[in-house]
Amino acid sequence: MALRVCVTGAAGQIAYSLLYSVARGEVFGPNQRITLLLLDIPPMMTALEGVVMEMQDCALPLLDEVVPTADPAVAFADIDAAILVGAMPRREGMERKDLLQANVKIFETQGKALDQYAKKTVKVLVVGNPANTNCLTCAKSAPSIPVTNFSCLTRLDHNRATSQVALRLGVKPTAVKNVIIWGNHSSTQFPDVSHGTVCSSTECQKIYDAVKDDAWLKGDFITTVQGRGAAVIKARKLSSAMSAAKAIVDHMRDWWHGTPQDEWVSMGVMSDGSYDIPKDLIYSFPIKIKPNKSYEIVQGLSISDFAREKMDLTAKELVEERDAAMQFLSTAK
Ligand code: NAD
Ligand code: LMR
Repeated sequence: MALRVCVTGAAGQIAYSLLYSVARGEVFGPNQRITLLLLDIPPMMTALEGVVMEMQDCALPLLDEVVPTADPAVAFADIDAAILVGAMPRREGMERKDLLQANVKIFETQGKALDQYAKKTVKVLVVGNPANTNCLTCAKSAPSIPVTNFSCLTRLDHNRATSQVALRLGVKPTAVKNVIIWGNHSSTQFPDVSHGTVCSSTECQKIYDAVKDDAWLKGDFITTVQGRGAAVIKARKLSSAMSAAKAIVDHMRDWWHGTPQDEWVSMGVMSDGSYDIPKDLIYSFPIKIKPNKSYEIVQGLSISDFAREKMDLTAKELVEERDAAMQFLSTAK
């Protein structure tokens, strides 16, 4: 049976970098047939037709069908996975509140449509910003789907942190394991390497011991990762797309198949109060995933005073975002 996978914002730049990887088996497996349901808004339907033509022209053996649509009822019908990329971007002169209001509307509508049309086992990844709060809105609007089926993308930040450490040490990114992104996918996020390791073929070391520069790890490293999205926008005049698509592939592949033994990843999930983070927030934690697709928040990590302050700061921002967003929500879980 083909897996039914919906991608929203399908005529946009992230989707353009993402769809090929999904359709050639990098996410759901090299033998898994796929039906792609591509949702965008009505003015983008002509551009979306072009994307469909290109998908067909790739002549991919795993791709059974591609369905372009502007109707969430079609896009979400009986789906197994949803990658929600489409969102209202910030325009000139727009206040943060206006952006939040527009996105609450989009993610409330899509949450309701998921509730009505998707499989109850659907796994939903929210990418569109503000990703954590959009994910919360979506989950609250889909009360018949378990909240643990919703997550938001902080894997890009996780990959950025991994890569910054690898570049500093002159090692491959695969040698660097178990960094953590705590909190919001925003500039208040806390990239934490205090539990991470760097491994050669013979030994593993703590990242702090390998880097031997605490001032960098507690200073420029953190601000570089926190500000990386903005730095890419400044340079490209467009936000990250290739690296965002790669992070989506990593996130969804690990959710589908499980994380490697002794490794965790960062994902925005519903807080259950772990590490004294307030409940009812989509907060990025270190996560291990079983092959049956269920995840758990890694427990028992020691938290320094330095980390505590940063974890609470990003939680505070998420509480404020949630409280502002909930004023615009017409229904609540
Ligand atoms: P883009 O503007 O190129 O594409 C967005 C697409 O979404 C457009 O085609 C637009 O028409 C569509 N869209 C808007 N409203 C929609 C709706 N209601 N239903 C379906 N489609 C809709 O943007 P992009 O570069 O692809 O980025 C998409 C989003 O991802 C942005 O919000 C961006 O900030 C966010 N982003 C998140 C991360 C992350 O790590 N979480 C990383 C990069 C970008
Ligand atoms: C990113 O992290 O690259 C995106 O979320 C874009 C942004 O606004 O930072």
